[in-house]
Amino acid sequence: MVKKVRAVGIETSCDETAVAIVEATEQGCMVIAEELATRPDEHGPLGGIVPELTVRQHLELLPRLTSRVREKAGGNGFSVVGATSGPGLAPALLVGLAFGKALAWAEKSSFYAINHLEGHLYSPFVSRGNWPMYPHLALIASGGHTLLVDAVSSQERRIVGTTRDDAAGEAFDKLARMVGLGYPGGAAMEKEAQKGEVGKYALPRPMKGDESCDFSFSGLKNAGRLLLEKQPELALPGLDRPHFCAEAQAAIAECLADRCRQALEKTGRKVLTLSGGVSANQTVYRMLEEAARRSGAKLLAAAGGWNTDNAAMIAAVTARRALDQADSNWEVDADPRWSVALRP
Ligand code: KG4
Ligand code: ZN
Repeated sequence: MVKKVRAVGIETSCDETAVAIVEATEQGCMVIAEELATRPDEHGPLGGIVPELTVRQHLELLPRLTSRVREKAGGNGFSVVGATSGPGLAPALLVGLAFGKALAWAEKSSFYAINHLEGHLYSPFVSRGNWPMYPHLALIASGGHTLLVDAVSSQERRIVGTTRDDAAGEAFDKLARMVGLGYPGGAAMEKEAQKGEVGKYALPRPMKGDESCDFSFSGLKNAGRLLLEKQPELALPGLDRPHFCAEAQAAIAECLADRCRQALEKTGRKVLTLSGGVSANQTVYRMLEEAARRSGAKLLAAAGGWNTDNAAMIAAVTARRALDQADSNWEVDADPRWSVALRP
């Protein structure tokens, strides 16, 4: 008989509160129900994520979202629960982890503590209903992380490149805030850039051509700040701001593409995956697709709503653990700096 697993995933590593139920077999994984809530209006005016607010939000929303996904899933039970236990914001992680353990205990199901970044690594595959295929090279580009991971097998992952300062999403957010596009500003910057032209203003491409596969975005942020000090009109709505945004977006995308090409050449991988919030950006997607093509590889990006943080990716990793009959890990605590792969 085909073994089928119904898994609940809980995600509270940052400001999104998310719960999902997936159904999985060895053949693949399907989302049955999903709920996600975020309150950028509360954090935005404060200029970033406020830990105290996220905790209150998660505490308030988790029971409600869980009831909703269970209803949507037809009231049927589940055999396993997984909750993100790192990396992320410690107080936010603690809420989701405690809630997940309590839910699993009450339902007499097994429990797994899941690495948030492993969820991102799964998302390009599971967003298409498949399990990850190995080996592949993965770029995770989000608000908190910019990581190049050589995924050799399900058991062996190595970090081949990481950011030396800001994450790619953080670079989008900081540059967007400088020109008054709010927080988080990545999507708003992409929209503004559509009306602009690359090359009207000059911004640097840090680390481009470097021997390592590392990233650095703080120089780009500083160059943006200096340019805006000289030409404050670039930060105002009007004709010039789109040009600034187009240049900033192209600079970030080019850096990502160049570092991926370097890593593809070093590792010889033929599949490059892309996940994390920045993977929603079309310019980034196009440049990475081109970089992969030039290295004889294929790009596989997280589809649809799987780019940004979600609970379906956590439920999918949970289901995989259950199918592999891994031992429950009730004893695992929240770990804000939990690494998803071996460091060099
Ligand atoms: O993966 P994610 O939802 O959360 C983290 O784990 O950080 O990523 C959020 C990041 C933010 O920095 C946001 O500005 C960025 O992804 N982002 C984008 C776009 N959509 C989200 N950056 C560029 N273009 C976008 N369309
Ligand atoms: Zn994330």
